[in-house]
Amino acid sequence: MHSTVALEVPFLDLKAQYRALEPEISCAVARVLESAQFVGGPFVENFEREFASYIGARYAVGVSSGTSALELALKVADIGPGDEVLVPANTFFATAEAVSNVGARPVFTDVDAASFHLDLSSAEAMITPRTRAIIPVHLYGRAMDLGQVAEFAAAYRLRIIEDAAQAHGSAYNGAKVGGSGQLTCFSFYPGKNLGAYGDAGAVTTSDSDDAHKLRLLRDHGSPAKYQHSMIGTNARLDSIQAAILSIKLRHLDHWNQLRRKHAAQIASALTDSPVIPPEVPTGGEHVFHLFVVQSQQRNALRNHLSANGIGTGIHYPVPLHLTEAYQQLGYPGKGSLPTAEHLAEEILSLPMYAELTDEQIEYTIDAVQNFAG
Ligand SMILES: Cc1ncc(COP(=O)(O)O)c(C=O)c1O
Repeated sequence: MHSTVALEVPFLDLKAQYRALEPEISCAVARVLESAQFVGGPFVENFEREFASYIGARYAVGVSSGTSALELALKVADIGPGDEVLVPANTFFATAEAVSNVGARPVFTDVDAASFHLDLSSAEAMITPRTRAIIPVHLYGRAMDLGQVAEFAAAYRLRIIEDAAQAHGSAYNGAKVGGSGQLTCFSFYPGKNLGAYGDAGAVTTSDSDDAHKLRLLRDHGSPAKYQHSMIGTNARLDSIQAAILSIKLRHLDHWNQLRRKHAAQIASALTDSPVIPPEVPTGGEHVFHLFVVQSQQRNALRNHLSANGIGTGIHYPVPLHLTEAYQQLGYPGKGSLPTAEHLAEEILSLPMYAELTDEQIEYTIDAVQNFAG
């Protein structure tokens, strides 16, 4: 039996977005079906051009997921067995998994308590002669200051591979994430700010050699049918997803604007409340893929919101060094990355998407404020 609540606020509402786009999407999908160009071809090329131009990168290479984007980018950067790659402990598992899958070792760093980003002073303490790369993650949709990362990477001669899976359209000092020129990995998983209707991803870069290698790697190392100049894989972006993404890209700035507006409203209403709201930068640095608050009574707050019909998430409940997978590989245990471990106990993601109604926003704010703890 379900208890009745005054209003439902789902954590994510992909159906609301689809209802608004349905005629455009149906038309785009029908065009692909009629063309029978399901793999490669004009729909993928169009989307790649549009996405590169939107981001301000010379090239965008469509791939099958954000995870394959990371794996292929690491291969292009020539990262492999014997190499170490600095990865923040608070990110989605795939950031580290991609490093492991190319045969290298992710080395977990602590994170900054205010921005949630990789903490460079912690990263510095992890440097060894084998450290070859760093993966700054633009976590929750907030663009990281790449100037500092670039100085750090130059000092230790590291490659930078950006994880922008959550940061489509965010910008630091006016420069969009993905436009730095270096390899930047995007996911178009359905719940992302720019989401496909299945798995999809892309890598942006301004290096023509890197773009060329990415195109080969995603398609069996094949420059032409049945020619194979290197060992690649099948990690192509499919045409139906590309056509859908082209339609959705036109709406991305508007959706991001609405997310920012909702985030500013909720954060300011929660300044005097039982939770710590996230920082709301005033430039374009944040696209609020996730709206993450902190509470010492996170689990009770989550239950309270759930009882009121409000969906929440935890991103992420287990810092990566403490996941079963990395514990089995002998990674340092509890206490080694205190900020990431502390945050994992207190963070809670509230509903955040363009389609949230004023009523849902007010209702969520009231429910948080009424949490007695
Ligand atoms: C930070 C981060 N990195 C990597 C990924 C992997 O992307 P995908 O699910 O498209 O493989 C995701 C999303 O799921 C993510 O949030």
